[in-house]
Amino acid sequence: MTSWQSVAVSVFLYVAVNAKIPDYIKICKRSDPDISQCILNSIEAIRPKLAEGIPELDIPAIEPLHMPEMVISRGGAFKAIGTNITVHGASNFIIKALETDIDNIVYNASLHFPLISFDAIYDVDAKILAMPLKGKGPINANASDIEGRAVIKGHKQVEDGKTFVMFDELKLKLKMKNYQIRLENLFNGDKNLGEAVNAALNENKKELMNFMRPRAEELASKVLLERANKITRHFEYDELFPSD
Ligand SMILES: *[C@@H]1O[C@H](CO)[C@@H](O)[C@H](O)[C@H]1NC(C)=O
Ligand SMILES: *[C@@H]1O[C@H](CO)[C@@H](O)[C@H](O)[C@H]1NC(C)=O
Ligand SMILES: *[C@@H]1O[C@H](CO)[C@@H](O)[C@H](O)[C@H]1NC(C)=O
Repeated sequence: MTSWQSVAVSVFLYVAVNAKIPDYIKICKRSDPDISQCILNSIEAIRPKLAEGIPELDIPAIEPLHMPEMVISRGGAFKAIGTNITVHGASNFIIKALETDIDNIVYNASLHFPLISFDAIYDVDAKILAMPLKGKGPINANASDIEGRAVIKGHKQVEDGKTFVMFDELKLKLKMKNYQIRLENLFNGDKNLGEAVNAALNENKKELMNFMRPRAEELASKVLLERANKITRHFEYDELFPSD
């Protein structure tokens, strides 16, 4: 271990050992016969805090969710950059079902997002649906009835005799039912071309959803995984999931 690593580990342990479980985190006993329901209740209890952000755990707000930049590229043929991104609705998820394997740290969840709205500044010069897409300006998109299936896996890590949960991966599959999208100022403000392309983007929903899905899944997984790890790294496994 380098000295930097040991400093990092000691800081980490210091934070963990000295943190008291705050009252917005509802603990679940490992022996609870319905631990999945208990965890569901905990997630409901922490939802408003996740929405507004939890500075003491270094968790930024998700309502709205701000991101400085997002780059979408596909094999050199397509490249788009979004900046100044704001997402509304991410905290309104509904967990339809949750299965947990506490000992092996596997959580499977079915999720529903009633409405997600996305605002950004786009910059694109590419081809999509066999038509040119070029411009720079505001973009707004609304997606309704998004179904998700998430599998999150982690492991227990022992540091100086203390056990923590670390989440390693979150696999997310999303299915979107419908959306509306609008790009302002396409083709340098050419009204006819801009309207035609916006109409085409809203008519070929299946193709565009298939195109966007992997990127949306990747982005949402990253946001969720980061937040889950920020919660668990602050508290010991036995504090979050006491044995009795
Ligand atoms: C970035 O977004 C914020 C909030 O949505 C807005 O107030 C600001 O003007 C935007 N900045 C640019 C450069 O568009
Ligand atoms: C979670 O889902 C995966 C695959 O979808 C399955 O193999 C696993 O048994 C599930 N685990 C739990 C705890 O439900
Ligand atoms: C998205 O929804 C908002 C609020 O209902 C609306 O103002 C906006 O025009 C919608 N965007 C599109 C692209 O339809």
